[in-house]
Amino acid sequence: MDDDRIISANLMMEEEQTMEFSLRPRYLAEYIGQATAKNNLKIYIDAAKMRKEALDHVLLYGPPGLGKTTLSNIIANELGVNIRTTSGPAIERPGDLAAILSNLQEGDVLFIDEIHRLNRTVEEVLYPAMEDYALDIIIGKGPSARTVRLDLPPFTLIGATTRAGLLSAPLRDRFGVISRLEYYTIDELTYIVSRTADILQVQVLGEAAREIGMRSRGTPRIANRLLKRVRDFAQVKGDGIITMDIVKHALISIQVDNLGLDEIDHKMLRAIILSFQGGPVGLDTIAATIGEESQTIEDVYEPYLLQIGFLQRTPRGRMATHTAYRHLGLPIPNSSP
Ligand SMILES: Nc1ncnc2c1ncn2[C@@H]1O[C@H](COP(=O)(O)OP(=O)(O)O)[C@@H](O)[C@H]1O
Ligand SMILES: [Mg+2]
Repeated sequence: MDDDRIISANLMMEEEQTMEFSLRPRYLAEYIGQATAKNNLKIYIDAAKMRKEALDHVLLYGPPGLGKTTLSNIIANELGVNIRTTSGPAIERPGDLAAILSNLQEGDVLFIDEIHRLNRTVEEVLYPAMEDYALDIIIGKGPSARTVRLDLPPFTLIGATTRAGLLSAPLRDRFGVISRLEYYTIDELTYIVSRTADILQVQVLGEAAREIGMRSRGTPRIANRLLKRVRDFAQVKGDGIITMDIVKHALISIQVDNLGLDEIDHKMLRAIILSFQGGPVGLDTIAATIGEESQTIEDVYEPYLLQIGFLQRTPRGRMATHTAYRHLGLPIPNSSP
């Protein structure tokens, strides 16, 4: 992935990680948008607390930067329990996961990010853990091997993934709550920008906050990142106040267009339109043409282009829509749909 890509919601620089921590809402009431997920979770959390039980296992899915990690931490906070955080690729062997599980305390949240990247042998440890709060340990080798079952305290697994489709059916079926996070509205993003500006103690004018919100691809992480970059421009080129002029100037400089698309989006759409007559063209072909990874295109770039109706997914590949032609200022061919 291109590490300089300003709109990429995926990568997280070190500086940003520490900053994200202070920007992250801590309670449901501070968590903007996602009404459906939030309202339902509130009920499940309250019910679990009333029954003094562990919350059912929760799967959160949606594109990067929409607030899955944030929401997981909020759930633990609202439940008043500890959260233990790990990720699919970080757990290499079944024993690693067994060690994590056996260290949990009653009611704790275990957060596994990128849960679709757990390997199968590790995943199998999760099945009895999720279903029966039990750990099956194999003792010995060969014909004399036997399984010993250890009890675990009741706990809540929260899994986060950008690709729910990649989860195996047995794993998916063990989540009691499955919640999809949606792209945020411009109003919600405007609010997030203003909130972040308050925390960072920078003044942003109303229309400027909205302009940043509009260019954030429906994604809070991008909104926060754009705000930070714009703040730099305001400091150096202006008097520190973020105005509409500053926003426009800054976003031209960092090559983010009026819809929040950057040069990679442009490259991708132009490739589909100019090299493949608008498609349909397969994902791998697009990836090879513009020198990006298919996986990254599918996870990070494409979902938003689909959402705003610039791309269509057909069984034969991706197609650019007329809206995309118009946005790029390219002539629409007569034969295209
Ligand atoms: N609902 C929200 N309200 C306010 N800020 C949010 C919200 N969701 C996400 N954010 C901000 O966006 C950043 C990225 O969110 P994160 O939870 O890391 O996304 P994900 O885990 O889905 O990639 C967080 O640091 C937080 O500041
Ligand atoms: Mg995350």
